[in-house]
Amino acid sequence: MKIDNFKVEEWFNMYESDAIYDLADTCVESLSINELLKITGADTDEICSRRLNYGDIHGSSRLKNAICSMYQNQNADNITITHGAIGANQLAMLSLIERGDSVVSIIPTYQQHYSIPKSIGANVKTLFLKEENNWLPDLNAFEKLVGIDTKIICMNNPNNPTGSVIPDEMLYKIAEIARKSNAYILCDEVYRGLEHNGQISKSIADIYEKGISTGSVSKVFSLAGLRLGWIAASKDVIAEVNHQREYNTISVGILDDFFASLAIENKDKIIKRNLIKILEGKKVLTDWLKNESYCHCIVPQGGTTAFVGYDINLSSVDLCQKLQQDTGVMILPGETMELDKYLRIGFGNNPDKLKTALNIFSDWLKIQ
Ligand SMILES: Cc1ncc(COP(=O)(O)O)c(C=O)c1O
Repeated sequence: MKIDNFKVEEWFNMYESDAIYDLADTCVESLSINELLKITGADTDEICSRRLNYGDIHGSSRLKNAICSMYQNQNADNITITHGAIGANQLAMLSLIERGDSVVSIIPTYQQHYSIPKSIGANVKTLFLKEENNWLPDLNAFEKLVGIDTKIICMNNPNNPTGSVIPDEMLYKIAEIARKSNAYILCDEVYRGLEHNGQISKSIADIYEKGISTGSVSKVFSLAGLRLGWIAASKDVIAEVNHQREYNTISVGILDDFFASLAIENKDKIIKRNLIKILEGKKVLTDWLKNESYCHCIVPQGGTTAFVGYDINLSSVDLCQKLQQDTGVMILPGETMELDKYLRIGFGNNPDKLKTALNIFSDWLKIQ
């Protein structure tokens, strides 16, 4: 299967190891195993006495039940466990999309949501989010793109890179439009739980019978190293996905399953920790924006990233390459997410480093 280059992941491969200040990252400062055990008060004997067999093939009941606590209407039969959200998105798409199908993708977003359908041979129509709409979908334009032939709508909420959060009423309207066409909605909800006002938005799986939610412990729980994600959807979809899944997963590691269960069972504590870090970083970012005349940004409402526009005469790729070469500050160019003249800045990591790096960036902008 031929597929386009995954531009964001390639950018990381090329530039992350040399970065002095990494503002491209989308995670909240990761947790160590010791920190996780301390926060959750877990017993290390329980882990050390585990036999390292395949474990429960589709994920342990303990883990699935913990995941259900993040939804309103899901139970263990509606969940399957995957290799991160990246594995969840891919499995869902490979299970449901066929050559010739019509797909609507709302972008900018994680490239899987348009490049995988395209690689399968689907006809992909894209709806660009716009800054003037606060990076929320224009429902009139969306309704025009979705037709009776639409098989699936791919979207991401809260959104990477813009940090927009679709209000629940709007999500219901999106579901209503999809329902008229009997289309699935695959909503990548990997940042759901990191809404900055602490109000977790509705999941598409809870409000729409053909809604498919993908999630993981990478962002919300700061455990990207576990490589553990999931799909929540109707039993029919889960059966299709599991059929496909037998060929590429068997099971996720039982240690990953165990640590993820612990983390999700203690979600209130971990989300609280992460929101404190995110809000600290967001303050640094918004204070910086007030004094940075070359840059503008719709303040993010969820997740860990802002999509910052700039007014200098360089493409985003050239800007980011030159900035990193001159200063060691790594920022992700908007072109890797299909929008030039924007930069994705992550603010979930160390706020002091963020402040220093943004000041270096400002000094650099003055001499361009
Ligand atoms: C929107 C989105 N979906 C999926 C992923 C992949 O996440 P995971 O680490 O769970 O595979 C990312 C990672 O940055 C992401 O931003």
